[in-house]
Amino acid sequence: MTRLRLLSWISITSCVCLVFAQDQSGFISIDCGIPDDSSYTDEKTNMKYVSDLGFVESGTSHSIVSDLQTTSLERQFQNVRSFPEGKRNCYDIRPQQGKGFKYLIRTRFMYGNYDGFSKTPEFDLYIGANLWESVVLINETAIMTKEIIYTPPSDHIHVCLVDKNRGTPFLSVLEIRFLKNDTYDTPYEALMLGRRWDFGTATNLQIRYKDDFYDRIWMPYKSPYQKTLNTSLTIDETNHNGFRPASIVMRSAIAPGNESNPLKFNWAPDDPRSKFYIYMHFAEVRELQRNETREFDIYINDVILAENFRPFYLFTDTRSTVDPVGRKMNEIVLQRTGVSTLPPIINAIEIYQINEFLQLPTDQQDVDAMTKIKFKYRVKKNWQGDPCVPVDNSWEGLECLHSDNNTSPRSIALNLSSSGLTGQIDPAFANLTSINKLDLSNNSLTGKVPDFLASLPNLTELNLEGNKLTGSIPAKLLEKSKDGSLSLRFGGNPDLCQSPSCQTTTKKKIGYIVPVVASLAGLLIVLTALALIWHFKKRSRRGTISNKPLGVNTGPLDTAKRYFIYSEVVNITNNFERVLGKGGFGKVYHGFLNGDQVAVKILSEESTQGYKEFRAEVELLMRVHHTNLTSLIGYCNEDNHMALIYEYMANGNLGDYLSGKSSLILSWEERLQISLDAAQGLEYLHYGCKPPIVHRDVKPANILLNENLQAKIADFGLSRSFPVEGSSQVSTVVAGTIGYLDPEYYATRQMNEKSDVYSFGVVLLEVITGKPAIWHSRTESVHLSDQVGSMLANGDIKGIVDQRLGDRFEVGSAWKITELALACASESSEQRPTMSQVVMELKQSIFGRVNNRSDHKDPVRMVTMNLDTEMVPRAR
Ligand SMILES: *[C@@H]1O[C@H](CO)[C@@H](O)[C@H](O)[C@H]1NC(C)=O
Ligand SMILES: *[C@@H]1O[C@H](CO)[C@@H](O)[C@H](O)[C@H]1NC(C)=O
Ligand SMILES: *[C@@H]1O[C@H](CO)[C@@H](O)[C@H](O)[C@H]1NC(C)=O
Ligand SMILES: *[C@@H]1O[C@H](CO)[C@@H](O)[C@H](O)[C@H]1NC(C)=O
Ligand SMILES: *[C@@H]1O[C@H](CO)[C@@H](O)[C@H](O)[C@H]1NC(C)=O
Ligand SMILES: *[C@@H]1O[C@H](CO)[C@@H](O)[C@H](O)[C@H]1NC(C)=O
Ligand SMILES: *[C@@H]1O[C@H](CO)[C@@H](O)[C@H](O)[C@H]1NC(C)=O
Ligand SMILES: *[C@@H]1O[C@H](CO)[C@@H](O)[C@H](O)[C@H]1NC(C)=O
Ligand SMILES: *[C@@H]1O[C@H](CO)[C@@H](O)[C@H](O)[C@H]1NC(C)=O
Ligand SMILES: *[C@@H]1O[C@H](CO)[C@@H](O)[C@H](O)[C@H]1NC(C)=O
Repeated sequence: MTRLRLLSWISITSCVCLVFAQDQSGFISIDCGIPDDSSYTDEKTNMKYVSDLGFVESGTSHSIVSDLQTTSLERQFQNVRSFPEGKRNCYDIRPQQGKGFKYLIRTRFMYGNYDGFSKTPEFDLYIGANLWESVVLINETAIMTKEIIYTPPSDHIHVCLVDKNRGTPFLSVLEIRFLKNDTYDTPYEALMLGRRWDFGTATNLQIRYKDDFYDRIWMPYKSPYQKTLNTSLTIDETNHNGFRPASIVMRSAIAPGNESNPLKFNWAPDDPRSKFYIYMHFAEVRELQRNETREFDIYINDVILAENFRPFYLFTDTRSTVDPVGRKMNEIVLQRTGVSTLPPIINAIEIYQINEFLQLPTDQQDVDAMTKIKFKYRVKKNWQGDPCVPVDNSWEGLECLHSDNNTSPRSIALNLSSSGLTGQIDPAFANLTSINKLDLSNNSLTGKVPDFLASLPNLTELNLEGNKLTGSIPAKLLEKSKDGSLSLRFGGNPDLCQSPSCQTTTKKKIGYIVPVVASLAGLLIVLTALALIWHFKKRSRRGTISNKPLGVNTGPLDTAKRYFIYSEVVNITNNFERVLGKGGFGKVYHGFLNGDQVAVKILSEESTQGYKEFRAEVELLMRVHHTNLTSLIGYCNEDNHMALIYEYMANGNLGDYLSGKSSLILSWEERLQISLDAAQGLEYLHYGCKPPIVHRDVKPANILLNENLQAKIADFGLSRSFPVEGSSQVSTVVAGTIGYLDPEYYATRQMNEKSDVYSFGVVLLEVITGKPAIWHSRTESVHLSDQVGSMLANGDIKGIVDQRLGDRFEVGSAWKITELALACASESSEQRPTMSQVVMELKQSIFGRVNNRSDHKDPVRMVTMNLDTEMVPRAR
């Protein structure tokens, strides 16, 4: 096998960064309210705009009224997302570069009477915990642009719209631009744009990307009271100036109309306490004669900023305030000196107002834990932005402590009662260290009551009632409850044992039974119910492992799942009327049970191997429950009739979509989500189950899709448990499917969960490429991982991704996912990530999308633009 070894797991992140630097990405351009998953390249700027799917969880999409949808209006304003529900709604953006870097964030609004009420709204705009600005729209066509330069303290940037009961908040455009961190350097977290002028413009157009490297929007400024100077030569060709104002902006300048007068600007802010940073950009645009000099002093509010300043010919020189300035009336004066033969000039100016983000965000550990809980349980509440702030509007069900202005708020009570939670109690709860009350009652939580709940120092109330928890209650919790320091409720968990003693017995039995089972070709799955373990031991002794025990053992295996007699199965399937699929074991039929659709797998009598797989599957599915594993509704085991009844998966299996058997082409985002679902199912088998379970037959045909395209892992016939303590591997007879079979496992016969990671990697490669795992030509067979590996080494990401997608995918995430897939499919299990790492990476790709921009040059036409501030510099 020729396999490229250049892709180790460790190198993934750095590779991705390199790719982005070359692409000049660092731009995230979101056109709010366009159809989910759609994107387009703006004709004028050649920037790629994407829909806001994945950046926001709430709101509704609208188009502005049709008579305002003129061709002169930028396309981004044709649609909006509005937020009629909830007081606060947030966009959550995770830029590739992460926290601690500087970003230019721009929001743009045009009402356009999208709701037909002809009433412009008024609302507040927040960044994370802090008020950015209020948005007031003057009329239906006024375009409002708000810009802020911001260094986020966490990897997430939350842009939130807060309802003030004066109309429904909405957003037209959201743009994030990565800035170099040595520009606009101030000790403040945030600078809000007041004005950005391009003086003496020859074209009277707004200038932005690609003329402007950072996609700042420069507004044209021209006045009959000033003289205009310009050049056709390029300014600052070498970009020696870090601010890099667009060359076309710097080509023109203004000078006072009367050459003996100084050049003056002033502005009066709304709030006289406002403080500003000012950035003035100068370049000489005239080639001066020997006897000519242009020299001037720069004053801001009567304080000299630069003395005897002479602009460089065709080079940008930026002068900025060192400390913030601000008074009732602010004034900039450029005063020519005695030696100067020419008047002062200025080419461009930017004025920013400080926003002292005084409200501290919620304690980072609490934020991380709450975020983890939100995603783990897919909590369906208005959980957006910062969990605890604004103070009067924390996340639903969360109570916070705001002690003082210098301490981060902490979460002290969390009520997730009746919230549809499934799966285990997540370790993230352990990180809510300040929590006093935790209510998880009336959900479908499974698994054990974790010990860490007893270590939460301030926990005084814990409600676990009405779940499906199993095992026993940790002794420490019971102790706390007995000594009165904790109010503990746990009724309504039928399988939860209430004394600490039952835990130890179960453990011993498991420890004893596992090696026996494993050595018998790993047939049996360990059960928590003692009765079943006993049942199995009998069965093993009778030697009925490898062959179908006709008539020997029939009847119910366990009372927990519904047992059906054969005549019921006949009824459910309407006498085996409709076949859904076929496999080595037999056929799968469609059926109805109590009006719900079900899938019924019938073990065929000819199948010699099938019986043990049938058993394995029943045992396993009785033990595990996860949204990304197919759930078993019941089974039949009557004489020689064996059937399994599952939930119906309306969209069949992933293999049909990838092979083209299904005519629908999965979008890139759907592919990522399906991969994440499958990865979560496997993660649960590996880490959510004790002992862990290895599926051993991960392939597209075993990943089923329901009506919402949610993926669930199926077919547990080959699955095996293995003990965690002691040896972490189990010797088995090799089983699986060619192409997906871990080469290391094949060679060593040592099975562990990394074998599934390998198979998953191959599946992921198929999902990306739409090609089969093994490609046969007349002379050779090539494994997909080798093929993709060499294409990736050549940087050919377009060639890798399924051609049926065209360019409807993101290059950035495609690189990342391809590298992830190849890391999973590494020949050596050590180089493969764990399923938890895989899940994390996939989540990042889904929830933190970064878009590329393309290269083209074309300035934007001028449209009505209204920067909402009174601080208009007036030249006089
Ligand atoms: C809307 O407001 C802008 C900015 O004040 C103004 O230029 C424009 O003429 C107004 N449009 C209408 C229809 O009133
Ligand atoms: C800018 O970022 C670089 C790379 O992360 C870092 O080394 C440098 O210290 C940063 N500079 C400032 C001024 O933050
Ligand atoms: C300078 O500006 C004038 C209009 O103000 C324009 O006609 C002329 O073409 C410009 N010159 C250059 C070199 O851009
Ligand atoms: C220019 O300004 C100076 C001093 O302010 C004044 O004396 C002169 O008359 C002005 N020239 C013109 C042409 O207005
Ligand atoms: C500079 O010299 C040129 C001739 O070389 C002359 O026409 C011009 O008036 C002089 N300018 C000044 C300000 O002395
Ligand atoms: C916290 O800051 C706000 C304004 O930012 C102020 O109104 C409030 O009084 C402060 N509270 C304390 C306890 O200092
Ligand atoms: C949690 O909310 C439910 C209503 O949704 C309420 O009945 C219950 O008392 C709350 N729990 C706590 C601890 O406040
Ligand atoms: C339990 O939750 C369900 C929804 O998940 C709700 O319909 C029911 O009323 C809740 N029961 C109690 C007792 O809160
Ligand atoms: C708990 O917090 C610590 C440190 O903040 C972190 O390393 C750990 O991963 C967190 N645990 C969970 C389960 O989120
Ligand atoms: C627990 O509560 C005490 C008293 O209210 C408080 O001082 C302490 O900081 C709390 N511990 C944590 C971890 O929040």
